[in-house]
Amino acid sequence: MSAVMKRDVQSIAELIASQKPGHSLDQRFYTDPEIYDLEVEKIINRNWILAGHVSQMPEPGDFRVLNVGRESAIIVRGKDGNLNGFANVCRHRGSLVCLESQGHVDKFTCPYHGWMYDIDGNLHAARNMPDDFDKRSHGLKPVSVGVIHGLVFVSFSDSSPSLEGAIHDLEAPMALFDFENLKVAAEKSYHIAANWKLSVENYQECYHCAHAHPEYARMHTLILDDDKRSRVQSGMKKRMEACGVKDYSIDFVDTAARPGEIGYGYYRSALFKKFKTGSKDGGPVAPLLGNLTGYDGGATDISFGPLSFLLAYSDHVVCYVFTPIDHKNSNCQIYWLVRGDAEEGKDYDVDALTWLWDITTEHDKVIIVNNSRGVHSKYYEPGPFSGMEDLERIYIEWILAELQRP
Ligand code: FES
Ligand SMILES: [Fe+2]
Repeated sequence: MSAVMKRDVQSIAELIASQKPGHSLDQRFYTDPEIYDLEVEKIINRNWILAGHVSQMPEPGDFRVLNVGRESAIIVRGKDGNLNGFANVCRHRGSLVCLESQGHVDKFTCPYHGWMYDIDGNLHAARNMPDDFDKRSHGLKPVSVGVIHGLVFVSFSDSSPSLEGAIHDLEAPMALFDFENLKVAAEKSYHIAANWKLSVENYQECYHCAHAHPEYARMHTLILDDDKRSRVQSGMKKRMEACGVKDYSIDFVDTAARPGEIGYGYYRSALFKKFKTGSKDGGPVAPLLGNLTGYDGGATDISFGPLSFLLAYSDHVVCYVFTPIDHKNSNCQIYWLVRGDAEEGKDYDVDALTWLWDITTEHDKVIIVNNSRGVHSKYYEPGPFSGMEDLERIYIEWILAELQRP
């Protein structure tokens, strides 16, 4: 290691060690490309990231592309019917091979010099190459793909954490909503001109919700403090059984502490009275999911690793995926899932289905960018968390611990 590299590594280590507990992070965590590089290595590329639902790639040749920081993955259903992942990097001179975000192909053709790859990643054709050129050793490089009850995840690591615990422990809770057989009714990307952590931190706390999200605040009781919320929560618990919603709870903090496993969590919380689901008037926006028999007036938070978060109402699921673009920009991808047999126009209307989280995310975009602008100021100083920002505090502590992991 060069002297310069060594000094930089030490100074980041010192910076991490000097973070004040219970406070937001130092400015450099949001502005410094070197810290971003470390995060990519230690957190982003090491973990699993939600890339869609199996129903989006039913046939061999159906594919989706997931872009995360400097990496790009093609997820494609192969000839044998399995989902495979490949680095979207041509084995000739490195161009991106696939420029579409999703679709169906017989072959992937690199837009630069036309090398062609089959849907199993093998190099199929390369023009005018020498006689001794070995096509077999120039297939697309593999990227890890995992499926958790219908949800497709990608990892840019050969030693990604195990998904077994999540698959096992979430089998019954996710079966309530029949995750395996849902379909994507709508999908939207939100570009956020801020470091990825500011985007995730905003999602982790609801201290801002009462103030910044009037639509959300009318229906979600997470805006209340714990004492007030426990009364509404017990009302929902009484309704759950009659609606076919079994009561499960998995603490993300416990699972994330298990070495070598993806962290995952599951927690159902009550909506305010009169709200059956997350909709403008509180009424249903799609048919009940799975075998649910009624609306208990609850919504379940499910989380997978550090970037993928889901909210399961009784009639639809909203999936949030936060990914870095670079150290100054991030993306928020939202998927709205409904029953696989629900028909658009008859059983659901996309505008009504997406209304709440679209408007809330548009507001969050503005909040997060304002946050980022202030954090870049020379007057910015890490400030203290409120009691309603516990999850954000825990998240930040987890990030600092991961950055120090060998
Ligand atoms: S870089 Fe892909 S064919 Fe040349
Ligand atoms: Fe928000």
